[in-house]
Formats: sequence, C-alpha cells, structure tokens
Amino acid sequence: MTDIQKAALIIQEGGLVAFPTETVYGLGADALNSLAVAAIFEAKNRPTFDPLIVHVADLRQAEILVHSFHPLALKLIEKFWPGPLTVVLPKSALVPDLVTSSLPNVAIRVPNHPLALELIRESGRPIAAPSANPFGQVSPTTAEHVRRSLGDKVQMILDGGPCGVGVESTIVSFAGEKPVLLRPGGLALEEIEAVIGKVQIATGTPDRPQAPGQLLQHYAPRTPLKLTPPQPGPKAGWLGLKDPPAGFDAVEVLSQKGDLKEAAANLFAAMRRLDEKGLEVIYAQPVPNKGLGRAINDRLSRASQK
Ligand code: TXA
Ligand code: MG
Repeated sequence: MTDIQKAALIIQEGGLVAFPTETVYGLGADALNSLAVAAIFEAKNRPTFDPLIVHVADLRQAEILVHSFHPLALKLIEKFWPGPLTVVLPKSALVPDLVTSSLPNVAIRVPNHPLALELIRESGRPIAAPSANPFGQVSPTTAEHVRRSLGDKVQMILDGGPCGVGVESTIVSFAGEKPVLLRPGGLALEEIEAVIGKVQIATGTPDRPQAPGQLLQHYAPRTPLKLTPPQPGPKAGWLGLKDPPAGFDAVEVLSQKGDLKEAAANLFAAMRRLDEKGLEVIYAQPVPNKGLGRAINDRLSRASQK
C-alpha cells in the first residue's frame, strides 16, 4: 500500500491525517462525517464556533457541497483554483453543521498541492482541514512543525516538504450580495480585484469576528512579539523584510531581496526559530502593505496581541 492509500483509508474510517498544501499543513478529516470532524476540534483544542475550510479536488466536487454559486465566485474559481483562494458560499444540506459552526455557508477551496489532491481523490471524500497547529499558535509549514505540536494526535502525517506559499489562503465571502475579504492570505487582493473588481474588506471586531480567523490574538509565538520601534538588547530578537538593525541577539530576515512572496514563505518558520531562542521580546517590522505583504502584516499584528 502506498502512503496515500494508507492515508485515504484513515480518512474513510473517520481518522485524522495531516497533509501538506501549498499554503500551510492541514489537519484533515472526512468533511461529511461529524464524528471525524469533532476529532479535529478536539485535537486542536479549537472552539467549535470557529468553522473549518473544506478541501475538494475540483469544482465538480464543490458543487455537491454548495447550494448556489455567486457568478463572481465562479469567475474567481475559474481563474485561481487550484490555489490559495477560499470562497464562502451558501451550503448544501450535505455539509454537517459542525463543519460550518452552524453557519448557513461553507468555506471551500481546491489546494494546489499534488499530495493534497491525491489524498482527496483517493479517499473520495471532501476533506475538512484547519491548519495543523494547536488553536491560536503559529501555523505549520513543514511536517516537522506538525510532528512537534500534534504528533501524538494524528494517525498519519504526509510529508511534502516545506509549503511554497507559507501563509494561509485568502478568504472571500460570497454569503451576501457583494464579495467581502474575510482574511488576507496567499493570493493577493490585487489579483482578485483584477478579476472581479472592488472587494469590501471585512470589519469584524475581536469579540464578534466575521471570520474567526479575525480573532485578534492568533498565530502567536510564546515570546511576546511587538510592532513598536525595535530596541536592541541581549534578549531581544528582530524580524523583518531585510536590512536588520545592529545589536540584536537574533535576527530573521524574511527576504534579502525584499520579495514579499519569499517573505511570506519564510514568515512562520522564522517566527518559530525566534521563539526557540529563549528571547524576552521579538520586535517585528511591518512590511509594505501590498501583494502578500497584507497577509504578512495581518499575521504580525495578530501575533502581537498578547
Ligand atoms: O490555507 C488555508 O486556508 C489552510 C489550509 C490547511 O488549507 N487552512 C486554514 O484553516 O487556514 P483555518 O481553520 O486555520 O482557518 C480557516 C478560517 C477560519 O478562520 C474560519 O473562520 C474561516 O476560515 N471560515 C471557515 N468556514 C467559514 C464560514 N463558513 N464562514 C466564514 N468563515 C469561515
Ligand atoms: Mg489556523
């Protein structure tokens, strides 16, 4: 039996498999099996008011989960699937309430990773998967990250090497008449707006988030992370795009050439490395707020809310 066949059997039997996608590693279960989905929430220690993204192999498989497609959603899907784009659409009766936290809409995407697609196809099931990290912590971009934090809670981890995109998918909601950006992510807002025009940006509050990804504190390392002007010191770390200032105990340069895509791919692993240095504080430098820089700044700002 191949690893994919083994993993597919685990999914069919209601178990948990961690698998790579192009964004981050996911913690997957059969999306149509409520008991299996419940095991995801338990393993992550995730509150059940935080709904899950369902991963499918293609648009046809999405059709059975969706009640109706907004025409602009179809335009985005055609252009960007497989890829780091999640769309929120009215759900069909087939989708268990636990997956959507009883919302009438379901979040769906087709990941752009051969192992993820093979797992979905081989199991024949849509796969519900949040990022494979304990709730509130930094998302995993390698199999080793998953092993360290959830290794004893999953039946299998498929190793596909480091994730190419490195930040979670961009989420656009089509629950209402007009598209709304719920979470900036691995697909730049500029690329989305080039296809469907202006997209509103969600204005959730920390107490009443529109997407629970908007919970203010999220993606956080254990070491306090600050966005205030950096103060060099023996127990201080620095993280930024390039040109680190002198005097820090540890620095992480996200992209020497200032490339925001490369920076996004490095972000979570860099946060983890700094977190393991026993520092008292990490100073993070926001990056230009365009392209994937929006997702990077969003994650930094959430990581700083402690
Ligand atoms: O790139 C990604 O999206 C990764 C990989 C594994 O695909 N997944 C991921 O899942 O980031 P997670 O659970 O960490 O974040 C999913 C976000 C949550 O913040 C959730 O609120 C939002 O998607 N979401 C899921 N279902 C939703 C729904 N029905 N309506 C609004 N937001 C939803
Ligand atoms: Mg997550």
